[in-house]
Amino acid sequence: MRLIAGTHLFALISLTAALDNGLLRTPPMGWMAWERFRCDIDCHDDPQNCISEDLFRDMADRLVEDGWKELGYEYVMIDDCWMSKLRDEQGRLQPEPSRFPGGIAKLARYIHDRGLKLGIYADMGTHTCMGLPGTTLDKIEIDAQTFASWGVDYLKFDGCYSNPLEQMLGYPLMSLALNATGRPIAYSCSWPVYVGGLPPVVNYTLMGNICNLWRNYFDIQDSWDSLQGIVDWFFNNQDDLQPAAGPGQWNDPDMLIIGNFGLSLEQSRSQMALWAIMASPLIMSNDLRNLDNGARAILQNKVAIAINQDPLGIQGRRLLQEKSRIEVYWRPLANSASALVFLSRRSDMPYLYHTSLAKLNYNPGNYGVYDVFTGSTVTGLNTTTLFTISINPSGVVMWYILPEHSKKTHTHHHLHKTASHFTFL
Ligand SMILES: *[C@@H]1O[C@H](CO)[C@@H](O)[C@H](O)[C@H]1NC(C)=O
Ligand SMILES: *[C@@H]1O[C@H](CO)[C@@H](O)[C@H](O)[C@H]1NC(C)=O
Ligand SMILES: *[C@@H]1O[C@H](CO)[C@@H](O)[C@H](O)[C@H]1NC(C)=O
Repeated sequence: MRLIAGTHLFALISLTAALDNGLLRTPPMGWMAWERFRCDIDCHDDPQNCISEDLFRDMADRLVEDGWKELGYEYVMIDDCWMSKLRDEQGRLQPEPSRFPGGIAKLARYIHDRGLKLGIYADMGTHTCMGLPGTTLDKIEIDAQTFASWGVDYLKFDGCYSNPLEQMLGYPLMSLALNATGRPIAYSCSWPVYVGGLPPVVNYTLMGNICNLWRNYFDIQDSWDSLQGIVDWFFNNQDDLQPAAGPGQWNDPDMLIIGNFGLSLEQSRSQMALWAIMASPLIMSNDLRNLDNGARAILQNKVAIAINQDPLGIQGRRLLQEKSRIEVYWRPLANSASALVFLSRRSDMPYLYHTSLAKLNYNPGNYGVYDVFTGSTVTGLNTTTLFTISINPSGVVMWYILPEHSKKTHTHHHLHKTASHFTFL
């Protein structure tokens, strides 16, 4: 700290009070290129899948025409590998012209014309992770201005090729530079990943003041192992991470890989359920042009989405890890509702789990339960009543729960919106 105390940059950091851009009061939803399409720049041999304006236009079309947009999936996000190897004569980043011949501003118009929003990627450092031009401290302002001039709505700011001191300066500076453009631009910071993701090195109060969301941990890969590693890390550290989340400021366990190659249908439901419990961004990285109906139904599950997008924005917690390798997760929701997820880490057969709401810390009373993935309901479930549920290997049972005494005081409007089967509660 002594090194930089008194500098102009340090003064700017201490002025930073709270990120007040009004954005992402609920976790962002949309689509991002990275996990599925990586740095495929081979448009000659792989024109359908290479990182190009066509790919993002295709995904925008799918979001609008296949019902995603009306469910809330609104961001179309470019990740690494969109840039030219060189900045232009004015020192601005520019897209690789053969793959983005129309430029980013035109792509942004295409996306805005369809009621969607555009996200872009840059890197705090000398180079992006894939070796393209980075945003060093002296380039932060011009890059923020460039993105705003193009009509960008969201910036993912990665952290390859920088040191912790540069990151400590650069992430707050970019927050100020985005604000100074006058354009509301959601700000996703990869900073925590690069410094271990945990306090005391990561100050999550500061993160919430400067970023709308942040990547805490390693990139997701297309596998159940990768997903489980992420889930374990987030919930093992929930005492540090859970309080950091709230409207406008979210932990980001990374993209939804549902619809790709690595997850079974059970595991896909598990990702959707746990990402809803974690108030995680719902950012798909899959091929919306080729999605099977099972994956589509999971990603478009209205109650899972409503739980994820709950207006209170309270991140959920892991309640129990049983010796049987059943785990129970819980999230409090608006209108005294809540969500429970029962996850099986087993690999044998459907497991019969016996519990009661009292054992899961519910207040005495009767509750109505809606099973998010089967649509079945239970009414009058007393807290003390023992029940048994069957959880498939690497799968979940996910419940949306309402106290029944609230049936007269709480609007059925909310229930109609989230779960039509629930109206009789
Ligand atoms: C910039 O920050 C101020 C004060 O924190 C806030 O009122 C304003 O809405 C912000 N503007 C943008 C474009 O984010
Ligand atoms: C964390 O950041 C906040 C906001 O900038 C600051 O008030 C607080 O003192 C910091 N905490 C630590 C332990 O540095
Ligand atoms: C729920 O169970 C408790 C404890 O057994 C009992 O006192 C209460 O009356 C029950 N509530 C209803 C509505 O059945």
